[in-house]
Amino acid sequence: MKPKIVIGNWKMNKDFEEAEDLITTIEEELADYQLQTEVVLCPPAVYAELVTDHASLEDSRFYAGLQNVSEFENGAYTGEVSAEMLASMEVDFCIVGHSERRKYFGETDEIVLKKMHRLLDNDIVPVMCCGETLEERKAGKHFEVVQKQIESTICTLTAEELERTMIAYEPIWAIGTGETATPAQAQEMLAFIRSLIEKKFGTEMAVFTYILYGGSCNGKNALELFSQPDVDGGLIGGASLKPDDFIKIIEAAETVIKEN
Ligand code: PGA
Repeated sequence: MKPKIVIGNWKMNKDFEEAEDLITTIEEELADYQLQTEVVLCPPAVYAELVTDHASLEDSRFYAGLQNVSEFENGAYTGEVSAEMLASMEVDFCIVGHSERRKYFGETDEIVLKKMHRLLDNDIVPVMCCGETLEERKAGKHFEVVQKQIESTICTLTAEELERTMIAYEPIWAIGTGETATPAQAQEMLAFIRSLIEKKFGTEMAVFTYILYGGSCNGKNALELFSQPDVDGGLIGGASLKPDDFIKIIEAAETVIKEN
């Protein structure tokens, strides 16, 4: 079984001192583990150096990630942060197309794809988020919505680019609501996404591609979610701000790897 991936998305939370404490606590708590799970921390961009400094230590327990990147290359784009800048800070991963960015900042699939290319060009792994609203699910349109998101982004990549890309399925109705998709719902959608990849890129790539679940994943439900055959790990929001809960999620990933 390939290693699981657990990504902490801190969103716009924590002041500098709190961010420092959180990183140090997570690192200390993980120090005794022989981890097979790959852990990625994505703080707000302004704290990039905190996470890259820790991640560059020889015995670091995690990789450095961020939550967003500019669709543009360097230049006159006030307030933006480029993929090249991220790369120069040794950021390894970057979330793109999170539903909050799609909703509040008008990110379309077209913009998401541009961001993915900026990241790939700079050897940073894009973690491309997709997922449907509650209305879309109730109307039975969830497969259609996710298919469109995957086809207009992931399916346009070359196989070599896809090898360096991850996908996170995050049903919008489950994000920050405490309402998690059932393990069966998560499995069903992740298997569907994998089938889309298989159709375009073949079985080997479909098996290889990391597809994560996100949306109210916590220390209590992670084990059951991660035990689903197509769930390669989790994108964790609220619970990644609480070290105990976050460690439990990583432990769940470890348990699943060991049992398989
Ligand atoms: P949540 O957020 O775990 O707080 O639901 C997940 C996410 O938005 O990435």
